[in-house]
Amino acid sequence: MQVTYSGAVIAAPPVPVVVLISGAGSNLAALLSAARRPGAPFAVVGVVADVEAPGLDHAREAGIPTRVIALADHPDRAAWDEALAAAVRELAPRLVVLAGFMRIVGAPLLDAFGGRIINTHPALLPSFPGAHGVRDALAYGVRITGASVIEIDAGIDTGRILAQRAVEVLPEDTESSLHERIKAVERDMLVEVVEDLTTGT
Ligand code: GAR
Repeated sequence: MQVTYSGAVIAAPPVPVVVLISGAGSNLAALLSAARRPGAPFAVVGVVADVEAPGLDHAREAGIPTRVIALADHPDRAAWDEALAAAVRELAPRLVVLAGFMRIVGAPLLDAFGGRIINTHPALLPSFPGAHGVRDALAYGVRITGASVIEIDAGIDTGRILAQRAVEVLPEDTESSLHERIKAVERDMLVEVVEDLTTGT
């Protein structure tokens, strides 16, 4: 959103973004670093995880509020879904970014932020959806794989594709070497998509 006076842009408040993680948080770190650039169109206002993810430290070091909503702390999946949606709602984001969040989000979050939740995935969707995109692509024997950023819908990695980058599979690749090369392009792509979605909104 831009505030103008006599046609001149005098303020462009950053769009509040909440990031959901489960792991190392290298995509989160890239978003935090982009959000620190002068004139960044978005600000990370909170990070929510489903486990005590190592990546939470990136947010803590930056003084950004964190919450852990663990499935084990809730009587059932439906209660966890409600708690997750409540934690995100409390942070009042305009955009929710799943950056290595390894659970399917349920109806409460989709109802609250429908069309405003995106996910990054380490494969060229619709190929190799799910929790093991890199392993599955390697096992299939594809020569090209990559990363996708999609809009989240009720399916598993079935939402509208917003961006994709290709990565060549090398003969000597292991799941971890391939994943590292994918993550290197994935981080830049995710930052670009978040900047695009939050610029001029
Ligand atoms: C990323 O490669 C992301 O695409 C993947 O987890 C990794 C998280 O890395 N997500 C999925 O596989 C979701 N199905 P990070 O914690 O270092 O950002």
